[in-house]
Amino acid sequence: MVYPIVKLGNPVLEREADDVTEFDTPALQMFIEDMFESMYAAKGVGLAATQIGVSQKIAVIDVSNGEKPEEKLVLINPTIVKVEGRQTGEEGCLSIPGFREQVRRGKRVTIRAQNIKGEEFEMTGEDLLARAFQHETDHLYGRLYFTHISTLKREVMRRKIKKLQREGDWE
Ligand code: NI
Repeated sequence: MVYPIVKLGNPVLEREADDVTEFDTPALQMFIEDMFESMYAAKGVGLAATQIGVSQKIAVIDVSNGEKPEEKLVLINPTIVKVEGRQTGEEGCLSIPGFREQVRRGKRVTIRAQNIKGEEFEMTGEDLLARAFQHETDHLYGRLYFTHISTLKREVMRRKIKKLQREGDWE
């Protein structure tokens, strides 16, 4: 099932999601399949559960855009444990469509997370994967990428979005 993507303005995006405490259930398996389906339908490389209105610490990532099944990643209750180096690049978010900004992130990032069975693992990613780890983990703590740009730029974005909302172009 493809879920609609929740947009900026919905409070679920700006609060910390709940920890996942039940693992290895058919409901969780189904939900994660739906998250991948929703992410591919929206042409994203990552999706957090909060973006489909579910306040649970679950994210899916596939930086291969569905080209390589082995690159499908499920992160449950993820935390960033190490950040090395810096990269600056353009970043967008399915919940803030039509906007992109230069965002500074770590170049090499290690996360600790649980898999669908609840087993803990650590993984290190570089470049786009490192960016996705940070972007999706941020989502699960209620932080959107524009918290990493200047206040001025963020206010400009918020004003433009408010205008779109008034005009009914932001559902
Ligand atoms: Ni996002």
